Amino acid sequence: MKIEGSTALVTGVGAGNLGHHFVQHLLERGAKRVYATARRPENVDAPGAEVLQLDMTDQRAVAEAAVRAHDVDLLINNASVNVPGLTFTDGDPDLIRRQFDTNVYGTLAMVRAFAPTLAANGGGAILNVLSAAAWSTVDGLAVYAASKAALWSMTNSLRGELAGQGTLVSSLVFGMASTPVMTALADSIAGPGALAELMTDPGVIVARALDGLEAGHTEILADQLAVDAKAALSGDEKSAYRALSEEYSIPR
Ligand SMILES: NC(=O)c1ccc[n+]([C@@H]2O[C@H](COP(=O)([O-])OP(=O)(O)OC[C@H]3O[C@@H](n4cnc5c(N)ncnc54)[C@H](OP(=O)(O)O)[C@@H]3O)[C@@H](O)[C@H]2O)c1
Repeated sequence: MKIEGSTALVTGVGAGNLGHHFVQHLLERGAKRVYATARRPENVDAPGAEVLQLDMTDQRAVAEAAVRAHDVDLLINNASVNVPGLTFTDGDPDLIRRQFDTNVYGTLAMVRAFAPTLAANGGGAILNVLSAAAWSTVDGLAVYAASKAALWSMTNSLRGELAGQGTLVSSLVFGMASTPVMTALADSIAGPGALAELMTDPGVIVARALDGLEAGHTEILADQLAVDAKAALSGDEKSAYRALSEEYSIPR
């Protein structure tokens, strides 16, 4: 997938977050057009991008976005929700459902709406943003982790389903990036700056993601926590990501 000259759509763009960095880097690498989408477009500061209002749990809004952005050949499903502290056994069932509605079914709605567009535009690529939590049970992020695990499996199936139309389906996996939301969470559980060394700059994560897409990689492990979490799946040692969640507990 060549970024230069591509037309990309990014979900979940907000102040200083990963989506924001995706938009900036895509434009810097010469994307022809970038649609920066958000539930609250007033939070989007993306000079050079076309800003669209989009809640991906709203089927009609997703369908309208696909009509408007009919020239897209790179879909970046970055948006997600995370309710720290939510548990399966006593968490609010509506909040549990909302995490799956957004992270799994919202992403699926985007893929289904844009797959014909990608096919019409030569195949292109889809990048689904996962998390090391997909591979690691994490205290305090249980529901989020399960939704990302489902998204990992779904992404792997989509790869096969869309191969025939020439669409590269790739996943981006990483543990911790210093976005405003993650920095606030880390500071609140471990103390200000205590986890800073484990966090990767979001611009670096995005650069690795786009390099991976350009190289045709189907799974992009963008930090050491992700590499370690995947390796831990096949061993008896707990991952560093899980160890972190045991050391610094997230309040319910
Ligand atoms: N930062 C990390 O350390 C880290 C680690 C692993 C994976 N990730 C993943 O990286 C991605 C970006 O994370 P981030 O740190 O940049 O967090 P973030 O700032 O919370 O970004 C998530 C974005 O998704 C949007 N969103 C939520 N529900 C939506 C919906 N129904 N429709 C459209 N947009 C919706 C949010 O918009 P609102 O502002 O309107 O809620 C927000 O802009 C996420 O997929 C996250 O799971 C992050």
